[in-house]
Amino acid sequence: MEHLICSPDDLPTGEVRIVTVNAIEIGVFRQGDEYFAYQNVCPHQGGPACEGMRTPQIEDTFDAKGLFTGQRLDEDDMHIVCPWHGYEFHLRTGEHVRDSKVRLRRFPVTIRDGGVYVAM
Ligand code: FES
Repeated sequence: MEHLICSPDDLPTGEVRIVTVNAIEIGVFRQGDEYFAYQNVCPHQGGPACEGMRTPQIEDTFDAKGLFTGQRLDEDDMHIVCPWHGYEFHLRTGEHVRDSKVRLRRFPVTIRDGGVYVAM
């Protein structure tokens, strides 16, 4: 069943909205024109993962000879960082950045009729 969360205008890009639906707390995220929803429970020890900061993937960079030149931020791959112990999850998938078997519980998000809906 779909639940109306808010208007897209009420969820600016880069923001999260924490709501409770059917006694389940979820975080609804917007990144540009993409929306994601996860249960606000970290698979590590149950922390409020969706309330953590978002940070871009950090990538090492190399020159043509393969020598390390520094690092860059990949804002196309934002991470959610659990505030309790720092587990990081890909915003697009909810998967832990180092172990894809560890993941946030995801819910489908639909944008229609001027609303952001989450199916639960
Ligand atoms: S509870 Fe989220 S990292 Fe430990």
